[in-house]
Amino acid sequence: MNITVVGTGYVGLVTGTCFADIGHNVMCVDNDARKIDMLRKLKMPIYEEDLEDLVRKNVEAGRMHFSTSINEGTDFAEVLFIAVGTPPGYRGQANLSYVEQVGRQVAEHMTSYRLLVEKSTVPVNTGEQLKRTVTKYLREDIPFDVASNPEFLREGTALKDAFQPDRIVIGVESERAASLLRNIYEPVVKRSGCELLEMNMASAELTKHASNSFLATKISFINAVSRVCELAGANVEQVAHGMGLDHRIGSRFLNAGVGYGGSCFPKDVDAFVHLSDQLGYNFQLLREVQKINQAQREHLMQKIQHELWVIENKTIAVLGLAFKPGTDDVREAPSLYFIPQLLEAGAHLRLWDPIASPKFEEIHPGLDYRTDIMDTVQGADLVLILTDWPEVRDIDLDKLKDAMRTPVMIDGRNIFDPKSVREKGFTYYSVGRP
Ligand SMILES: NC(=O)c1ccc[n+]([C@@H]2O[C@H](COP(=O)([O-])OP(=O)(O)OC[C@H]3O[C@@H](n4cnc5c(N)ncnc54)[C@H](O)[C@@H]3O)[C@@H](O)[C@H]2O)c1
Repeated sequence: MNITVVGTGYVGLVTGTCFADIGHNVMCVDNDARKIDMLRKLKMPIYEEDLEDLVRKNVEAGRMHFSTSINEGTDFAEVLFIAVGTPPGYRGQANLSYVEQVGRQVAEHMTSYRLLVEKSTVPVNTGEQLKRTVTKYLREDIPFDVASNPEFLREGTALKDAFQPDRIVIGVESERAASLLRNIYEPVVKRSGCELLEMNMASAELTKHASNSFLATKISFINAVSRVCELAGANVEQVAHGMGLDHRIGSRFLNAGVGYGGSCFPKDVDAFVHLSDQLGYNFQLLREVQKINQAQREHLMQKIQHELWVIENKTIAVLGLAFKPGTDDVREAPSLYFIPQLLEAGAHLRLWDPIASPKFEEIHPGLDYRTDIMDTVQGADLVLILTDWPEVRDIDLDKLKDAMRTPVMIDGRNIFDPKSVREKGFTYYSVGRP
């Protein structure tokens, strides 16, 4: 089947690649000419493991094409997936201007039936708004459908998630739309054995916001428990393990740390709170989740302050800028909270990340970016771990200690065992562990 995917970011490019790899003909459209130019040269605008090889394979097989023209994308396929950004607006609500723009452009150009599928994360009832927009901008009375198909992939394991999703959710209003989406996903369903859930559009839209908000709640819950553990002399990892073995709770997303970040959880929780307000429900639970997340960062900052006493002129090595390992995405990453604060306090910062430094440098140019961990920590007064990259997990602690001026480690990801790090001679702070 011919499919157009609008937006070639973390979701659009991975989705388009997955569709091409299962046999569809895919046109990936983006209005960022630089990205399309890179993709045509088989260079990836984002980092995701194995993506480049898979894009090359499908381009060479003639199943993947790139364009900056939404009109070309509209002509190319009956089904268009909208995977453009929905960044936070000024009061926390989702900014839907990119989604609206795509809807308008498709409506103005289409000459026969089209199915517009919301792949982007959008507040409930966006589908209704999109339908109104398309109807308004259509040149003549042409049939169309709007459907919701929220994406659940995780950066760092995005391709695996696309090929083997836990579930596929489609929100549809007509049998025609349902049947098109069933056909598109049939190979994924067959190979992975996952369920394809059909529901109405509002339910599909809500499933995404509710899922992300629930996961964020789990993280904030264990972070709140970590604070109690610190006060009570308990170990949050042991508590989380004991909780997680209960199948009703599950062990995932129960890692205490520096708090959630990334391009999804912060903005999706904000948007869900905002949307609930608009609908007339004060989602206090999620407001508390947001506060706990912020407090977790502040609490770690206090540990740095407490240990160094005076931050000014201290050399701090920051390990990890990406919001999690396996991605170059720094949107809402904890590093964006700590680095400006430490700079303001007068610290000399050395920053290390195996992949995300260029993206971080676009936001904070002119800082001291390093490519080698040992070079980064040489002569440092403190090392601050913000991302649990494998390179950080595998660090030689003896060498690290010898390289530092004072062996102080603030571990925002609970990577190391407190007892063994202290036995090596480190002053060690982590989260929720004695
Ligand atoms: N990143 C994730 O892990 C993830 C996971 C699930 C869902 N989502 C959701 O998917 C959506 C996309 O997220 P992302 O991380 O891929 O964003 P992104 O910023 O990486 O990509 C969005 C792309 O859309 C393009 N674009 C914007 N307006 C356009 C237009 N009018 N025409 C053509 N292209 C346009 C941008 O140039 C950009 O390349 C968001 O709603 C996000 O919440 C993201």
